[in-house]
Amino acid sequence: MLVSLINIDVQRRIGQIDPRIYGGFIEHLGKCIYGGIYDPHSPHSDERGLRTDVIEAIRKLRTPIVRWPGGNFASGYHWQDGIGPQAQRPTRPELAWGTVESNQFGTDEFIQWCRMVDTEPYICANLGTGTLDEAAQWVEYCNGSDDTYFANLRRHNGHEQAYGVKYWGLGNEVYGDWQLGHRSAQDYAKVAREFGKMMKRTDPSIKLVACGGQNLDWDREVLSYCADLIDYLSYHVYWCPQPDADPYYSLFWGPHGSEQYLRFIGELIEYIRRERGIGHSIAICADEWNVWYRSDVTTERELYNLTDALVVGTFLNVLQRNCNTVKIANIAQLVNVIAPIWADPESIFLQTIYWPLFAAANYSGPVALDVHCESDGFEAPAEVSGELPYLDVSATLDEQTSKLFISVVNRHKQAAIPADIQMSGAQIDAEGTVHLITGEEPSVTNSFEEPDNVALHSEPSSVAGDSFAHEFPAHSMTILELPLC
Ligand code: AHR
Repeated sequence: MLVSLINIDVQRRIGQIDPRIYGGFIEHLGKCIYGGIYDPHSPHSDERGLRTDVIEAIRKLRTPIVRWPGGNFASGYHWQDGIGPQAQRPTRPELAWGTVESNQFGTDEFIQWCRMVDTEPYICANLGTGTLDEAAQWVEYCNGSDDTYFANLRRHNGHEQAYGVKYWGLGNEVYGDWQLGHRSAQDYAKVAREFGKMMKRTDPSIKLVACGGQNLDWDREVLSYCADLIDYLSYHVYWCPQPDADPYYSLFWGPHGSEQYLRFIGELIEYIRRERGIGHSIAICADEWNVWYRSDVTTERELYNLTDALVVGTFLNVLQRNCNTVKIANIAQLVNVIAPIWADPESIFLQTIYWPLFAAANYSGPVALDVHCESDGFEAPAEVSGELPYLDVSATLDEQTSKLFISVVNRHKQAAIPADIQMSGAQIDAEGTVHLITGEEPSVTNSFEEPDNVALHSEPSSVAGDSFAHEFPAHSMTILELPLC
């Protein structure tokens, strides 16, 4: 019989969660921007061509920050092509993905869209084919409040108030040969430093995200050269089932491998800060992450199933647990391309992975607790830990509302797992809520015809006191929302 034990002491705290870990990403790729975010021909678009049904679905995710315009696209994007009267904007060959860019959606449209979504913009500069001047002038266009050329150009385009874009990326995946303007770690570090200097001199209040490499040698080089200038180091990851392994269980190895790597980067950052005497903090910005293995995203869309949703739920737990080092994270992407929202011109449906994102952002507190969990497990590679527990747990606390949230992903394919949950430092009041995401089987997907095969269902719970039992259904994610007394 599978049983487990979860101990939660509300005084044992990991740290403060930055809500920006629930961020998103949109790129000029496939049907994400054109056909997802912007579609003048859809009946759901407003007079500017922005899809209001997509905006509504993202607002419900309470996405606090959105990265744009890419991704690989960013490395060939010249932002000045995308401002001014839309009819006069040039179409250009798009060399990252082999398409044509119409430039109908540009900086002003992105900022408008962010305001409608109630999210913070995060712009990734072009460190591939772009110049130092272009990057600094982009900052000036967005944030300039003086009587200068690019600030005036923004005003001329109808936007009197500076946009105050705080987060700027110094390029995308420059370490990869697929990238326009691919460079070695040392070459990238030198270029990033010069771009960063120019951009920060243009607006000293901005925060810079340097491009991490998912490789400690790359990360060390970039940190050694740029630590005094940057505020974040990026991390990208896409998970897939492993060859010659169980396709269901091996998909869960991914977020745990990432958790391990996030610990490595966190330590490396601290080591370099100490070595170089860097006073300010440098955090990890996991600005692309998701399950992705089925589709060529230029032409197709990834249809997610319940298993993928549980993998996404696991990584949201990982992000909460690693709140001291990861301060921004952006699921890639938000609509149509490897995304929680599937939009056709006439309507949308919510993919399975929408629900863990919704649950984590809506049912969590700002303080991460250090949970002890004992649970049987499934096999994992030795380098990840040899075995992973069926139950993955994260607990968070909201002191303002006096609520505890326990997020539990039961990765067992067939079995429900009963758990004894023991509390210290606080008692649970009755009148809580159980939020459950599950479905008939791990392979189940949503669609226009069956949009609710996987959704979130909430029911009242009446547990009280300092210990209680709860059974977590097979292949499910549960969030227990528990008032404390
Ligand atoms: O998100 C899709 C692509 O994946 C991005 O453009 C790129 O940065 C990554 O390789």
